[in-house]
Amino acid sequence: MPTESPAMAHHTPLEDDSASGIAPAPPCTLVIFGGGGDLTKRLLMPALYNLAGGKLLADGFRVVGVDHNANDDAGWRRDLTETMQSFTRDGSAEFHADRIDPEDWGFIEERLHFRQGDFEADDLYRALADTITGNAVFYLAVSARFFGTVVDGLGKAGLLKQADDAFRRVVIEKPFGQDLASAQALNARILRQADESQFYRIDHFLGKETVQSLMALRFANGIMEPVWRREYVDHVQITAAETIGVEGRGAFYEPTGALRDMVPNHMFQLLCMVAMEPPNSFDAEAVRSEKAKLAEAVRPIPPGDAVRGQYAAGQENGRDVPAYRDEPNVAKDSDTETYVALKLEIENWRWAGVPFYLRTGKRMSGRQTEIAIHFKPPPHRLFRECGAGEPAPNVMRLRIDPEPGESTELNVKAPGPQMRLGRVETAFRYADFFDEKPNVGYETLLYDCMTGDATLFQRADNIEAGWAAVDPLIQAWADAPVESYAAGTPGPTGADDLLARDGRTWLPLEPG
Ligand code: BG6
Repeated sequence: MPTESPAMAHHTPLEDDSASGIAPAPPCTLVIFGGGGDLTKRLLMPALYNLAGGKLLADGFRVVGVDHNANDDAGWRRDLTETMQSFTRDGSAEFHADRIDPEDWGFIEERLHFRQGDFEADDLYRALADTITGNAVFYLAVSARFFGTVVDGLGKAGLLKQADDAFRRVVIEKPFGQDLASAQALNARILRQADESQFYRIDHFLGKETVQSLMALRFANGIMEPVWRREYVDHVQITAAETIGVEGRGAFYEPTGALRDMVPNHMFQLLCMVAMEPPNSFDAEAVRSEKAKLAEAVRPIPPGDAVRGQYAAGQENGRDVPAYRDEPNVAKDSDTETYVALKLEIENWRWAGVPFYLRTGKRMSGRQTEIAIHFKPPPHRLFRECGAGEPAPNVMRLRIDPEPGESTELNVKAPGPQMRLGRVETAFRYADFFDEKPNVGYETLLYDCMTGDATLFQRADNIEAGWAAVDPLIQAWADAPVESYAAGTPGPTGADDLLARDGRTWLPLEPG
């Protein structure tokens, strides 16, 4: 990505990107199961605070936190206020503020209520049914093993019955199932209690502005779609590389692994956004149908087209870091993968024969989430014939993290008396064009759920199609050994072989 150029500095935002003019969400009660948990503190409260700052919450908004640990309204308010204040000192990966605005936080704080309860006990749901009237969103910020239980409890207590003047919605976090069969079973179970339109299955990648912006980039620019197809695209690389390790989440990660944690959900959302057909409209069902259609066109991945790895001891930013097997709550002989690379094929008219390569891993040499479209070379080798050199293929990189933006490499004439090709990059960073509002990625998702816009949430068929594509790998890897790679490197060598087999190479990861 370039440093800021004069042209970039004198930009004019094309759209009014201020929050003003957006109506507040209708009044509702947000019931957070897992109110004492990490997600509530790190992401949901900062997101609600940002929504309050944008005047996007109605006066009648309130929050009920439910947790099995003892607390009360005053105690919960105090805990969350302390956590919010701590972000002004330490920040978190997603949220840092120089100060917490007393008015905006006060708006949230005075609307916080706490209820202690056992997610498995009917009396919790009966008590909630006695106090909740009108619109309600039930947010399941709990361990996945409680998803079915909580939805059953809500359903049996009548809390999911909607009326003309009252919606009832359920937000479900990931992981939604551990494989195809369990995802299907969970879908069947929850759909016995309420209609599909009431379920909002979250994938936080869809809360990232630049993931949403992929639709604008593709469908608001006439120059993109004509070349966005097999005739012009050689292959696509989708990368979600992290430098962090499992970060104390060993107990969750051990039975999960990189494949389940990242591929059928986050990586498939990126895949759908970049490869789906243009929807007929921005109606949620129109968009979700195109995404589901794309995911269903992915050929189940043969184990021979995938590689997995696990990080050994190594270095992160010059500091020694332990092997995955030495992380807390990880078995010394664990075969859980912390890295996956795979090749997938999309069996449809637009993409037949164009490989999509996906890779994701922890403790890699760089933090980078991006989609890279590798275009085919021009059909006639004009420049080679005149000795100017071979034009390098054009690569368009759509960067999601850490610095959202786009860049495309082009061939131009290098200055001088002879015709010689040189390589340049055209690029932009979102930050150069827009005043980015503080955002932890959950603001849009919470607001959309309260306003009933399900575009960015996953429908049952989309989730199941993701699992169906990776199911052969889950089966094949159940007892298979895992290749190792040193922490702080680009991943196992098998991943390079996977592309070398097709005469291709991964784009290098930028260090950081
Ligand atoms: C989560 C995974 O869903 O996504 C984590 O469970 C992963 O393991 C994270 O680190 C990555 O998200 P982001 O937004 O940091 O790229």
